[in-house]
Amino acid sequence: MDCALLPGLLAEQLVTRSHAGIERVVFSNSGAEAVETAIKFARAATKRSRLCYHAHAYHGLTMGALALNGSPEFKRGFGPLLPGATEIPFGDLAALRKELRRGDVAAFIVEPIQGKGVYELDGERWREMQAAVHEAGALFICDEVQTGIGRTGKFFAFEHYELTPDIITVSKALSGGYVPVGAMLTSDKILRSVYSSMERAMVHSTTFKGNQMAMVAGLATLSVFDDEHVVEHSAAMGDLWHHKLEALATRHEFLHEVRGRGQMIGVVFGPPTSRTAKLRWRAIEATRTAMFSQTLVVPLFHRYGILTQVAADNVNVIKLLPPLIAGEVEIDIFVDALDELLSDAERNSGWLVEFGMTMAKGALKRTRTASKSSSVA
Ligand SMILES: Cc1ncc(COP(=O)(O)O)c(C=O)c1O
Repeated sequence: MDCALLPGLLAEQLVTRSHAGIERVVFSNSGAEAVETAIKFARAATKRSRLCYHAHAYHGLTMGALALNGSPEFKRGFGPLLPGATEIPFGDLAALRKELRRGDVAAFIVEPIQGKGVYELDGERWREMQAAVHEAGALFICDEVQTGIGRTGKFFAFEHYELTPDIITVSKALSGGYVPVGAMLTSDKILRSVYSSMERAMVHSTTFKGNQMAMVAGLATLSVFDDEHVVEHSAAMGDLWHHKLEALATRHEFLHEVRGRGQMIGVVFGPPTSRTAKLRWRAIEATRTAMFSQTLVVPLFHRYGILTQVAADNVNVIKLLPPLIAGEVEIDIFVDALDELLSDAERNSGWLVEFGMTMAKGALKRTRTASKSSSVA
């Protein structure tokens, strides 16, 4: 119906930073809402209904986005979800082709670097998947809610793999992380498949789309990104993360691999080879799968004040998503802390006892709080 000044200016900025097929922007309030927009527009543009997504994918928790979630624990209790949403094993081109052959797939939605576990595919596999989608007349959607706006050292993570998605979703960093905002970027043709006439001008909308606060925050963020070369900085820090953590991996047998790009890093832990360390690993993992990384997250916070996160359920991967302006000083703080903790883990079991105590204290506190509140009630 209209295009107010500020959404117009921010849309212009986003389009300018995208590949040539991206010409239009639809704003919303969150990442999940941008994904809902993508689902609706993909269905309208292709006149097909089925959506494919990757195993372990995360696209948000509203009903449509939840249907595309690759972890069953998120979906339990909320069904039935979108009919026909189909999971593809990560990077499995043959499985994708098999689904596409049925001719009813509207779109395949992917995270260019998967948030849960920080999993990557090589460029060739990505391009084969995108080509298969296009050959089948379906749309290729890159969900850049987490990876977009510089996180991985490019403005969009799909640029690493030379992809040209039909639809892009962004949120999080678009407003510098401060004001709720989401956006779906696409072509004029796909946009017009929804807004095809005056009567249909309101068929997809939301009250606060393109609100002034979010738009100004977005414009300010992008302008700071340009002035302070934030994307280039993120790329350079990615190299430094790999360099320093890979050097650490040569000294610590628990540290197996460093994944990710830019300021989105996955630190992968696994069983050591030496006998005593192996026994320690087994003792920890016996309490719960992937408990080892949890035993690091707790002292990283308690001892060093560093807030990290295990990248997903049942994987020994710690995910690092520092502020994009983090530099060598912050990298060294983390690497030194991890170095100390892993040395402790290899040398003695005091660290394991400390973890056990922390867990026990937490459990005791929860029991006391529960009994207090039940006596108040
Ligand atoms: C890739 C991806 N898509 C979508 C979402 C959902 O965004 P929101 O939490 O803003 O709904 C997230 C959130 O973490 C995400 O990482």
